[in-house]
Amino acid sequence: MTEYNAGRVSDYADGDRKVVVCGESEVGVFKIDGEFYAWHNRCAHRAGPICQGRIMKRVLEPVAEDHTVRAQAYDEAEFNIVCPWHGYEYSIKTGAHQGNPRIRLRKAEISIRDGEIYVRV
Ligand code: FES
Repeated sequence: MTEYNAGRVSDYADGDRKVVVCGESEVGVFKIDGEFYAWHNRCAHRAGPICQGRIMKRVLEPVAEDHTVRAQAYDEAEFNIVCPWHGYEYSIKTGAHQGNPRIRLRKAEISIRDGEIYVRV
């Protein structure tokens, strides 16, 4: 395994991401709720550049007592990334597709030493 520098911890504000070129592949590094997550930049659908997609809170459709849906809301605890090619939506924290948890992003290993983030592929 080879290690690649993904920048300093202090370079990332909460909600930030960087896509790091790691030899022949790319890895997206995300900071969400103070934690770091890293995923290979290949969507599980057709290998689109998932880590370059839009980041947004998960959209919920609360069902009223009369079983109607009259509004939408955001899940404050769940941040998703949306693939720019066909719209598959994944949890940044788990890498799981929101509609089918068997569809997942490929995790990349990261470590933090002396304030620097390293990706191993
Ligand atoms: S390649 Fe990502 S949704 Fe199709």
